[in-house]
Amino acid sequence: MNPALLSRRSAMHGLGAGLALAVKAFGQSASPGLPLKNTGLEHFGLTVPDSEAAARFYGRIFDTQLFKEKDPPPRFYARIGISYLAFGQRADTPPFIDHFCALTDGYARGEARKAMEDVGITFGNGALGMATDPDGLRFQLLGVPGGLAGTIVPGPRISQEEPLFQAIGTDHLILHVSNLEASAAHYKKIFGPELPRTKKPDRVWFQLAHTRLGLEPAGPGEKPSIHHISVRVAGFDATSAVSKLKTAKVEVTASTAKTVMFKDLNGIEMEIQGNA
Ligand SMILES: [Fe+2]
Repeated sequence: MNPALLSRRSAMHGLGAGLALAVKAFGQSASPGLPLKNTGLEHFGLTVPDSEAAARFYGRIFDTQLFKEKDPPPRFYARIGISYLAFGQRADTPPFIDHFCALTDGYARGEARKAMEDVGITFGNGALGMATDPDGLRFQLLGVPGGLAGTIVPGPRISQEEPLFQAIGTDHLILHVSNLEASAAHYKKIFGPELPRTKKPDRVWFQLAHTRLGLEPAGPGEKPSIHHISVRVAGFDATSAVSKLKTAKVEVTASTAKTVMFKDLNGIEMEIQGNA
């Protein structure tokens, strides 16, 4: 082969490879959707043996007007201020918080999912495909302004009494994870830099608009989980909150001046705190 041609072809090949690398690098840094433009945590899915019973439990605590899916299977909803809890029913599995959702702004054509897939995040199947983290915990994206879907209708109002607390919305969500650094790296891709870590317990925090996501190492032998939701309530006072919960025969599991934790009818823990 003509040496001049060879060198020209090599040069072209080299140029092509360089160009490909540049495009790849651009593609990676260009993930235009990340960190995710989000407006905070919105709702949480709970899998429970009896979805109506679970909604009724939370209804008397946060909002006595329940909502439900118009068509079977029986799916109930309890609002917690601007956030809500969605109860799906399964008898064959221990109760757990099965997913959490944040609202995203400006990704109407699936750009957020694409951006996440571009950095190696995997999604489950189905129309509600959710991103899975290193422990398989599931995160859903919905568009702003969120709220109850059009397939949802008013369910029973369970009482004319005031609920125990005036819920404002989600303050934070805590995940118990098997490997703190792996999960931190995963959520950093989605939500951007961490906030300063906190100790006792060791927690990595991400700010999601007016809400936060916290990662904490699971204890020895503990299964990773979406561990608990913390709800902001108006006029929080720990002493009176504990007393109201006890009067309502709700099991209080921990309390400080700033937070009170209780167990729901299925043993899932929930936290309330002030609107600081
Ligand atoms: Fe959901």
